[in-house]
Amino acid sequence: MPDPYMPSGGHAADPGALVLGIESSCDETAAAVVADGRRVLSSVIASQVKDHAPFGGVVPELASRRHLENIVPVVRAACGQAGLEMADLTGIAVTQGPGLIGALLVGLNLAKALAWGLNKPIVGVSHLDGHLAALGLAEDPPPYPHVALLVSGGHTSLYLVAGPGGQEELGQTVDDAAGEAYDKVAKLYGLGYPGGVVIDRLAAGGDPSVIRLPRPRLHDGTLDFSFAGLKTAVLNFRNQHQGEAYRIEDLCAGFQEAVAEVLVKKTLMAARQQGVGHVALAGGVAANRRLRQLMEDTARAQGLGVTCPPLDLCTDNAAMIAAAGCHTLRAGRRLALTADAVSRLPRGGSLPAGV
Ligand code: KG4
Ligand code: ZN
Repeated sequence: MPDPYMPSGGHAADPGALVLGIESSCDETAAAVVADGRRVLSSVIASQVKDHAPFGGVVPELASRRHLENIVPVVRAACGQAGLEMADLTGIAVTQGPGLIGALLVGLNLAKALAWGLNKPIVGVSHLDGHLAALGLAEDPPPYPHVALLVSGGHTSLYLVAGPGGQEELGQTVDDAAGEAYDKVAKLYGLGYPGGVVIDRLAAGGDPSVIRLPRPRLHDGTLDFSFAGLKTAVLNFRNQHQGEAYRIEDLCAGFQEAVAEVLVKKTLMAARQQGVGHVALAGGVAANRRLRQLMEDTARAQGLGVTCPPLDLCTDNAAMIAAAGCHTLRAGRRLALTADAVSRLPRGGSLPAGV
């Protein structure tokens, strides 16, 4: 007997042809339509930055409420801008985790309702797979295999990517993510939110050699990272130099240089170990100007190809969720209508298996 909680998904020949992506894992409500996992027909984002800025970080309860207000208009706009009726969609992809549970549930439940009401196939996507799939939406996507550095507010991981959706984790942070360190340092100095963007801007006017900060785990021989100690080093520097004159721009440049150097050196070490000739950047911190420049210069100098995707593909968006979902829809995976959101993935793990 067919499972009444498993959408049958109609009879579309190719469920990945026109995919609606929905993303609500953190503080952006986003929807997009992507054709063939490759062509972005629309990408709409309602940012909550202004709502959370007074608190210096994302307030989970507030994020859920804003998602509730924004999600239906954002999905409508994504279909409208793609010139489509919802009935034209061949599949739906939604971020199932990791992320803020209340925020995830808003997108997940709308996606389930649409799949059920329209009888469309639906898949749950890992937000991290989405960030990696964003690379395939770049004008000049990286060849396979490549080593990808995924750096965001919640994650810092290195992957060997063998093909679409086929990645193996090589290393990750043992404590704070790189973006988290940016946000915490910015909060420590009251610079504003999101911290990465502000520090990136201030660092451009600073000298990275004036304030030298530690490079955590740079020479430990592993592909793991640690950024909690770097944040503490900034705190100690601040306490030890209270009342002394130094330029915040120099501090930002020194901090950014330490983060970028560790990220770049470990990425290139991973490429060497894996015998791979191409590296790529993904995630919100991949928008960082110094990281992009250092990665491009160093990788090229070592004869490696490098992909730094456009900024709007680095930070959270739903086109990357639709792109990742296209592959899993085509592979026949489906999300049960009883499936829950997942706040955390196990180390190197993936979402619970669908069908
Ligand atoms: O991928 P993303 O948009 O959301 C998560 O999945 O976490 O990444 C957000 C993170 C935040 O920590 C933010 O401070 C950081 O990316 N970020 C940056 C820059 N733009 C965003 N960090 C450094 N430089 C930037 N230009
Ligand atoms: Zn993200």
